[in-house]
Amino acid sequence: MASMASSSQLFSKLSCIIFFLSLSTSASATLKVGFYQSSCPEAEAIVKNAVDCAVSRNPGIAAGLIRMHFHDCFIRGCDGSVLLKSTPDNRAEREHPANFPSLRGFEVIDKAKAQIEAICPETVSCADILAFAARDSSYKVGGISYAVPAGRRDGRISIKEEANALPLPSFNADELINSFAQRGLSAAEMVTLSGAHSIGVAHCPTFSNRLHSFNATHSQDPSMNPNYAAYLKTKCPSSSPSDQSTVALEFSTPNRLDHRYYVELKKHRGLLSSDQTLLSSSSTSRMVLENAKYGSKWAVEFGMAMAKMGSIDVLTGWQGEIRRHCSFVN
Ligand code: HEM
Ligand SMILES: *[C@@H]1O[C@H](CO)[C@@H](O)[C@H](O)[C@H]1NC(C)=O
Repeated sequence: MASMASSSQLFSKLSCIIFFLSLSTSASATLKVGFYQSSCPEAEAIVKNAVDCAVSRNPGIAAGLIRMHFHDCFIRGCDGSVLLKSTPDNRAEREHPANFPSLRGFEVIDKAKAQIEAICPETVSCADILAFAARDSSYKVGGISYAVPAGRRDGRISIKEEANALPLPSFNADELINSFAQRGLSAAEMVTLSGAHSIGVAHCPTFSNRLHSFNATHSQDPSMNPNYAAYLKTKCPSSSPSDQSTVALEFSTPNRLDHRYYVELKKHRGLLSSDQTLLSSSSTSRMVLENAKYGSKWAVEFGMAMAKMGSIDVLTGWQGEIRRHCSFVN
């Protein structure tokens, strides 16, 4: 009897532990809106202020921060890995040609982080700061607002070669769909998020093959509006990879995050091959036409898709760490 009692006591103790463990893992696997409400109530306002100041001075920073969040989330999940600097024995994502020298806005993240560390040390992750900054950028240059669930933790690994897994501007629609599907994002979400190319710039080598050396029979991409191609040739006169001039990704309202990107695709003025293919490919053209027509619907969907992108493979709970400085692991 005595041994039965103790074994059932043992069992109930064990199930408490197991229940407690399963509670804590399920709680840590999800992000939460207002995560810092009690631990650092000023955090989101500090980020917003840093973004507002920087973007008022240079609207291109909004583009940089939105792109930085995308590049963070697509490689090792949204863990701030894109923010880490190389060390003597490791080359980090930041050095990959997709990120260097074009990725911009690091100083905004560093500034917000320094201000937050001063009042709430080791509390707010760099991955969350970047997610907030992308949201605040979308609001500042597009009036698009969406809630950002937080509670991401910072990773300790960043490897240059892993950024090879970012989608390329030469991708066709199937390759783009596949790249996003690998991260749990649908074709419609891929098309919606590509609307971020409504702002910011691209360097000549990312599209100049479309102007100078398209294929064996066409030197110029026939899916590009010829007047637009002529204009681009004045900006990028050669296909030299060292031409570091830039051109606005969206022709009509280059500093406004809006659905005009899709309207421009209809005019065959998409800058990157991966942009224009969304109209020419049968699997995505309907979505482009829809977004071109319904701008406010696109804006709502953009916010939702950004929030979803922001939850790719996040570290939570006791995983990772809260970096003290966003460029270095603790
Ligand atoms: C669909 C696949 C995508 C491809 C192939 C792609 C590729 C590119 C390329 C080649 C550039 C130009 C970089 C340069 O030369 O400076 C660029 C810029 C940009 N991308 Fe994407 N991108 C994609 C999706 C996205 C997504 C999902 C977002 C964000 C939600 C995004 C946001 C941006 C922004 C804002 C810029 C301008 C950056 C700046 O001005 O600093 N892109 N992208
Ligand atoms: C070149 O591109 C055009 C337009 O996309 C296409 O019709 C043609 O088949 C391509 N030619 C070669 C040799 O790939």
